Amino acid sequence: MENNEIERVAQPETLPEEQKLENTLRPQALDEFVGQDKLKENLKIFMQAARERGEALDHCLFYSPPGLGKTTLAHIISREMGSSMRTTSGPVLERVGDLAAILTNLAQGDILFIDEIHRMNHLVEEALYPAMEDFELDIIIGQGPSAKTIKLPLPKFTLVGATTRAGLLSSPLRDRFGIVNHLNYYTLGELKKIVFRSSGILGVNIDDKAAEEVARRSRGTPRIANRLLRRVRDFSQVISKGELNVDIARKSLEALEVDEAGLDKMDRRILMAIIEKFSGGPVGLDTLAVAVSEEVDTITDVYEPFLIQSGFMARTPRGRVVTVHAYKHLGLKPPASVQENGDLFS
Ligand SMILES: Nc1ncnc2c1ncn2[C@@H]1O[C@H](COP(=O)(O)OP(=O)(O)O)[C@@H](O)[C@H]1O
Ligand SMILES: [Mg+2]
Repeated sequence: MENNEIERVAQPETLPEEQKLENTLRPQALDEFVGQDKLKENLKIFMQAARERGEALDHCLFYSPPGLGKTTLAHIISREMGSSMRTTSGPVLERVGDLAAILTNLAQGDILFIDEIHRMNHLVEEALYPAMEDFELDIIIGQGPSAKTIKLPLPKFTLVGATTRAGLLSSPLRDRFGIVNHLNYYTLGELKKIVFRSSGILGVNIDDKAAEEVARRSRGTPRIANRLLRRVRDFSQVISKGELNVDIARKSLEALEVDEAGLDKMDRRILMAIIEKFSGGPVGLDTLAVAVSEEVDTITDVYEPFLIQSGFMARTPRGRVVTVHAYKHLGLKPPASVQENGDLFS
């Protein structure tokens, strides 16, 4: 698809070609991890306490839209606890046996990182309960009436779960995590710090205003900040011999069709669809997804949280609506009915 690349600029999932870069840019220690101060403070205390007692850290659950630092935190925990980490994900653990194989190979204090933990099937999930709670694995031997359950002791490990959809987690699973944290979108100042930090690692010479421009258009998401930085660097290399000032930053971000609020083509398409096809809303999520030819899950996980957070869209009992702010941003005049409700939504 011709425009695929451009549309994906704000796509918070890791692009395949970014994997290596992402690892290079990943903060290694909690002190290098920018923002999320409350979370960091708590985590620091819990880790220190566990270390002093010589115990494994409580199970941790991190939830947030993609690209905000969940995987990074799992790596940091493993490093700061001085333990090794096994990584897997909900969809990969197809059978109880897959989980059992991993669990029985863990050592005391190890970290088991399960990404996309909301996508685990329920048999695997149920096998995980006694493992998390009592560090035991129930194994069924034989079949039919003669089947027997034996309890296999496991080393005390720490499960770190990550999900974009805490709402899809069953409460028995969620309740078994001692430490549950939501990661928030990052502020402009925090993103700027991240842009400078990454520039340093990549050897990019970026000035203050250019860094701010990249930060502003990053949808509050470190992964996107790093991605835009890389694209902007390409532009600067080709059109200005590597000099990266605010003009170059602006020009390249415009070429990528990321606007001043950080909205990409799909964000704008969603807002436009609500305005043009549904008179500003309310419109149900399924209908909206069809109108913009996008998956419902992608809209809920990726697009909607940011559009709501930045005040372009609101969720009402009857569906999604756009705000006065959205009309203005798109250069449209809000209809009188929306203006009346203006202070409700803008
Ligand atoms: N708090 C942060 N400070 C600095 N860089 C960050 C931070 N959070 C995320 N990043 C960067 O963003 C990228 C994506 O983070 P990641 O942990 O993979 O997100 P998630 O797992 O939530 O999708 C990482 O490569 C890392 O470089
Ligand atoms: Mg991740």
